[in-house]
Amino acid sequence: PASTLLAGQKVIVTSGPTHEPLDPVRYLANRSSGKQGHAIAAAAAAAGADVVLVSGPVAIADPPGVTTRHVETARDMLAAVTEALPADLFIGAAAVADWRPLIDADEKIKKNGGAPPSLTLVENPDILATIAKTGPHRPKLVIGFAAETQALLDHARSKLERKQCDMIVANHVGRGSDVMGGDFNQVTLLSHSGEESWPPLRKEDVARRLIATCANLLAEQAE
Ligand code: C5P
Repeated sequence: PASTLLAGQKVIVTSGPTHEPLDPVRYLANRSSGKQGHAIAAAAAAAGADVVLVSGPVAIADPPGVTTRHVETARDMLAAVTEALPADLFIGAAAVADWRPLIDADEKIKKNGGAPPSLTLVENPDILATIAKTGPHRPKLVIGFAAETQALLDHARSKLERKQCDMIVANHVGRGSDVMGGDFNQVTLLSHSGEESWPPLRKEDVARRLIATCANLLAEQAE
């Protein structure tokens, strides 16, 4: 590793989208590339941590020095994260699908000449909220992301409270922002003690700074 900031610490990171199947050939998904989450996993490994990356379907390579688990759905992602516990630090950077189709048909849904099929959605488990719940396996530090197209900081602050996490990294993802899939990110960190905005940075630099911030918070907790 390039540093020992997180030496001896176990870190779990989620990254990428999830795919929620409708039938054997179709799914619901989102535009997450996994670039930010993968960069965070790589930065944690470079800081000496033992890292498990739980990744949805992405087109980018597994980061070096990291144990990567590939999953498809939100439910698979929750199972893989739970299996990887315990951990000191959890960073939920994945764009987990909030909903999945109620029915995953065994055979390809066919046109039958009548009305188009309607899509009934059901709620997926919230991985971040599940991991952040108080309990013997709650990581010392639980960090979520908030990707919003409007009222970013208000939504991020309510997420911090509702999901009981220690910090939310808020990033703006509106049309034209080029964050989803792009190489840059502009984030605001919100915690119970305040907020801090960083300038636009390459996702690798956001990752390095975030890992340094986490290392500081873990060191403060240990004092
Ligand atoms: O509520 P929203 O999806 O915007 O919250 C974003 C944060 O919650 C991210 O850290 C994301 O990884 C996490 N999340 C999750 N499971 C879900 C939905 C979101 O872990 N089902």
